[in-house]
Amino acid sequence: MTDFKNTPDPLGLDAAEMRQLGYWVVDRVVAHLEGIADEPAIQAGTPAELRAALGGLPPQAGSDPVEALETLADVALAHMQHGEHPRNFARVPGPSSFAGVLGEWLGTGFNAIAASWGGGSGPATVELVTLDWLRSLLGMPEGTEGVMTSGGSLANLTALAAARASEGPGVCYLSDQTHASIVRGLPAFGFAGDEVRVLACDVEMKLPVDALHATITEDKAAGRRPAFVVATAGTTNTGAVDPLPEIADLCDSEGLWLHVDGAYGASAALCEAGRRVLRGIERADSLVLDPHKWLFQPIDAGCLFVRRPGVLKRAFHMSPDYLADVTGVDEEVDFRDRSLELTRRARALKLWLSFRIYGVERISSAIAHGIALAEHAERVVAGDREWEVATPAQLGIVTFAKRGEDDNAHASRAAALADSGHGVVTSTKVLGRPALRLCTINPRTTALDVSSVLQRLGVAVGHEPRT
Ligand SMILES: Cc1ncc(COP(=O)(O)O)c(C=O)c1O
Repeated sequence: MTDFKNTPDPLGLDAAEMRQLGYWVVDRVVAHLEGIADEPAIQAGTPAELRAALGGLPPQAGSDPVEALETLADVALAHMQHGEHPRNFARVPGPSSFAGVLGEWLGTGFNAIAASWGGGSGPATVELVTLDWLRSLLGMPEGTEGVMTSGGSLANLTALAAARASEGPGVCYLSDQTHASIVRGLPAFGFAGDEVRVLACDVEMKLPVDALHATITEDKAAGRRPAFVVATAGTTNTGAVDPLPEIADLCDSEGLWLHVDGAYGASAALCEAGRRVLRGIERADSLVLDPHKWLFQPIDAGCLFVRRPGVLKRAFHMSPDYLADVTGVDEEVDFRDRSLELTRRARALKLWLSFRIYGVERISSAIAHGIALAEHAERVVAGDREWEVATPAQLGIVTFAKRGEDDNAHASRAAALADSGHGVVTSTKVLGRPALRLCTINPRTTALDVSSVLQRLGVAVGHEPRT
């Protein structure tokens, strides 16, 4: 029979060993961050080489922990895109700050949970407080409720599912620049095929209000029920912001739910240059912002705000007998009732800590720096007549193309840069034409980093018009 009292925990490590291994991890991460500019910005391995180093049969006996940690760091973590790399301008790089890393580590060490009030009232309060800080910085009204998710995909779909539960079935209008995860996810979240209307964007790659109005009128005449509009505040491809005040006016007059996907761009509301571009964002019925994009948080962290109190809870409430002991009353919030997650990571700890350590002012200037860097890139490209700016710098994103060059040539330039390790950019299309794209939101990036990547792509540097 097992002697429970005297049997050591088979997974336990003694305190000295925990400290030693923990310090190893801290040292390794700090060394990685210190030397990152000299490391490849992105690296992909072949399945065979990665499996050879990381695979094999399940290890029956344990082995040296430092060796295992080294394998993870040197092999697994070396083969990826590095969001912190100062010349990673591809997709949305998501550079994290060390304050965010510390918050993540602390929460993970304590195995923090934010599901039900009784089981995690401390982390839940941190989430409520942090969401309210963000809510006020975005200019949304008091009483707006929020929840954190794994990222923008789930935050947007959680919002639209809750909106549909609140308003009933109806047509949802999007543009062809809306993030692909929304169109992909709507059917799984209850929207029928004929309830999703994708409109062509205008020449500025924004949702055209006239066409939106005309389609709504057409749908009503055909007996359909317009109900939701998805506007984007900072599209992934070009950083364009849909005309939020005009769309909000139309939604008001037609009685439609306005959802704003600010997963990428809404964080820019924390600085003045961003606030100007995002005017009207505060009128959203629901709004998404991803701290793991432009609020310098480690993956994962998405935020959803819903203006009308109670909408999330009515959509996602559950109260089985086995959770009664930990269920909150009155203002005690059970976050399990605000999305489809029950067991939830306490994602707000890192964001709260970042606000406490840096303050809004430092975060704001880090965001403004990213906006200015894309403007610098635009000026450099504009100085070379063989290249053209495809879309101007908008919220830290600029796209550009070499005149007369085809798809493959642009993709080859991007691939050669990535292979060199010096930097990484995205090859994309803008209104059907090939282009390269920079997303410059990393506060560690300098103007020199931007220029050197442009130069390696073939842009002549040093001819930019003076400002
Ligand atoms: C505008 C926008 N919405 C949604 C998403 C999806 O977010 P996530 O990748 O965090 O799920 C992204 C990702 O880049 C985005 O840029």
